[in-house]
Amino acid sequence: STTRIGIIVGSLRKDSFNRQLAKAVAALLPQPLQAVDIPIGELPLYNQDLDSALPEAAVKFKQQVESVQGLLFFTPEYNRSYSGVLKNALDWGSRPWGKSSWPGKPAGIMGASPSQVGTALAQEHLRMVLSALDVPVLPQPSIFVQYGEGLVDADGRITNETTAKFVQGFVARYVAWLDKLAAK
Ligand code: FNR
Repeated sequence: STTRIGIIVGSLRKDSFNRQLAKAVAALLPQPLQAVDIPIGELPLYNQDLDSALPEAAVKFKQQVESVQGLLFFTPEYNRSYSGVLKNALDWGSRPWGKSSWPGKPAGIMGASPSQVGTALAQEHLRMVLSALDVPVLPQPSIFVQYGEGLVDADGRITNETTAKFVQGFVARYVAWLDKLAAK
């Protein structure tokens, strides 16, 4: 049987570096892990008035989150934090009260930015909110991918050897951590 890992990308940009990184990582997941894309771009702006009758996009999103056994977040950094669209998705998934879709889904966080320490602050903010949502987050390694044009090629492979090794190392640690949690 497969272990479904939800991929959530915090950028809606067509050529998003984070989306490209997510594709490369999805291809690296070993059996029995299977990457499942969980899109967030169709979600309306969160409005608590709708908690009593969730819009269809939110229902679908929650079902997708509930259908996976783990999560991988790829966050851009916007003004020293993660993106509003990602927060919007986290908020939808957490509601209505008592029916959160998030608790207990082991998560890994990665992020890509053209800046060298880019996404470090975004990742810390995301980590803080995920802990409030009862989502266990892999503590280490942290990975801040500095994105330059062509880092991920058309076939979804990481072209820089150092970055590729880092990302492979991260995936290996995430997989080992999932195994450990599942064994408990
Ligand atoms: C940015 N960018 C950015 N980068 C960074 O490292 N730290 C930051 O605080 C910010 N702030 C910021 C704010 C806003 C509103 C935008 C649009 C961009 C640059 C950002 O890293 C860059 O646009 C990436 O390409 C965004 O990720 P995607 O869309 O390529 O995945």
